[in-house]
Amino acid sequence: MTWQPNSWREFPIKQVPEYPDLSSLKEVEETLGKRPPLVFAGEVQDLRKKLGDVANGKAFLLQGGDCAESFAEFSANNIRDSFKVILQMAVALTFGAGLPVVKVGRMAGQFAKPRSAPTEVIDGMELPSYRGDMVNGIEFNEVNRIPDPTRLLNVYDHSAATLNLLRAFSQGGMANLDQVHSWNSEYIKNTAQSKKFDQLSEKIEECLQFMAACGVRSDNTRSLMETEFYTSHEALLLNYEEAMTRKDTITNQKELFTTSAHMVWIGDRTRQIDGAHVEYMRGIANPIGLKCGPSLATDDLLRLIDVLNPDNIPGRLTLIARMGADHVMAKLPELLRAVDRAGAQVVWCCDPMHGNTVKASSGYKTRRLEDVMREVEGFFAAHDSVGTYPGGIHFEMTGQNVTECVGGVVSVTEESLGDRYHTHCDPRLNASQSLELAFLIANLMKKRRDHTAGILHAI
Ligand code: TRP
Ligand code: MN
Repeated sequence: MTWQPNSWREFPIKQVPEYPDLSSLKEVEETLGKRPPLVFAGEVQDLRKKLGDVANGKAFLLQGGDCAESFAEFSANNIRDSFKVILQMAVALTFGAGLPVVKVGRMAGQFAKPRSAPTEVIDGMELPSYRGDMVNGIEFNEVNRIPDPTRLLNVYDHSAATLNLLRAFSQGGMANLDQVHSWNSEYIKNTAQSKKFDQLSEKIEECLQFMAACGVRSDNTRSLMETEFYTSHEALLLNYEEAMTRKDTITNQKELFTTSAHMVWIGDRTRQIDGAHVEYMRGIANPIGLKCGPSLATDDLLRLIDVLNPDNIPGRLTLIARMGADHVMAKLPELLRAVDRAGAQVVWCCDPMHGNTVKASSGYKTRRLEDVMREVEGFFAAHDSVGTYPGGIHFEMTGQNVTECVGGVVSVTEESLGDRYHTHCDPRLNASQSLELAFLIANLMKKRRDHTAGILHAI
C-alpha cells in the first residue's frame, strides 16, 4: 500500500487522546503545517550516517533526558544543567570506549506519554489520565484534564526555544573540550563522582596540552570546540508528526522527514505491526527507534524490522531493549541471535530504566540504581555471549538534584524520596547517578576494547 503522511489515519491506533473540540484540533494541525521545520533534512541524514557507524561497532549512542518534559520545568537553567550532565557522560564514554559518542537528547519535544489506563480515580472522582503537557494538565481537576489541542502549538514553541538553546550550547563554546572542568555540577561538589570526574578532566587536559603543543587547538580545530547534539522523542501523537512532515526543499529529494526532531521512536505499547504508529514511521526517512520490551516475540521483531527498514540501511533503525534487570539475560540473547542471523543492520541500545520501575513502600514510583546497572551489565553480557555489538544506552535523567531513583554513591534512600521528587512521569536519575552510570558503561566499553586489543596482540 502506498504510504502518505496521513495514511496512518486508516489504521487502528492506541493511546490517542479524545479531544472534545475537533474543529479546534483541525485548526491547530493546519497552523502547525505552516510552521517552519524545527530540524533540517541535512542534520537528520548526518545523524543517520553516525548511527550507521554505531551499527557497525565504530561509535556509541548516548540517548537521554527527561521522561516527560513539562511546561513547568521549562527553563534555561534546567536545559543547561541537563546538557552539562550529558556532556560529562559523553566525555567519560568517549574516553573509556575510545570511540565517537553520538549524543541524542530526549529533549525539545518529549511532551507526550502513553498511559496504562485512560482514566484515573481519586477520592471517587474519575477524570482522564494525564498524558503529558502536550495533551492535558497534570493537576487533577476537570478543566485541566480535558485534552486541549492548543497544547500542540505550545509544544512546538517550547521545542523551538529548547532547540535554540541546545544549538547555542553545543556550538557556542560551552561544549569546548577546554571547558571540561566546568561541566561538573554544583550539586555533586565534593562527592566521589565529582572527584572521579575531576581526575578524568585532568587526563583530558593533559591530552589537550600535548595536542596544543603539536599545533592542534580548539581555536583552529572545530571538533575540539563544538559538538553535535541531536534531539528525539517518542512519536506518540501522529497528528503532530504528520503536520511537521516535510520534503527536503534544498536537495529536493523524494524523502519525507518529520521535522519535529532528528530521531523519533515507537513505544513498547504502540508497536503493533498493523497499527497506525508503525504505518507512519515506516514512511519517514528519519532514524527511528523501536522499544523492545519482554513481551516482544522474536518473529514479531523480525517482521517489524522488515517493515521499518526494508532496505536494511544501517543507522535507520535502533532497537531499544527494555527488558528489566531480571529478564535481560533470559530474553535478549534470543532476539540478538535472530536479528544477527537475519543479517539485519541495526543499532542495539539498552534502556535500563523502564523495565525496572517499582513502587516504594511510601507509594512513590521509583527505580533502584542497582537494578539499572544490573540491566546494563546484563545487556553487555548478552551481546558478549552472542557476539553482537552493544551500541548504546537510553536513559531518563535530569541535571537537577532530585531524589527520584534510590541508591547511588550519594545515596538516596526510600525514606528520602519525598525530599525532591519533581518528575511529571517516571523517576529520573540525578546528576550524580547519571555520572555513576556513565562511568560503569565507560568501564564496560574499555574492557571490550582491551579484550579486542588482546586478541589482536595474540594474533
Ligand atoms: N566534537 C567531538 C565530539 O563531539 C569532541 C567533543 C567536543 C566532545 N566537545 C565535547 C566530546 C564534549 C564529548 C563531550 O565528540
Ligand atoms: Mn519514562
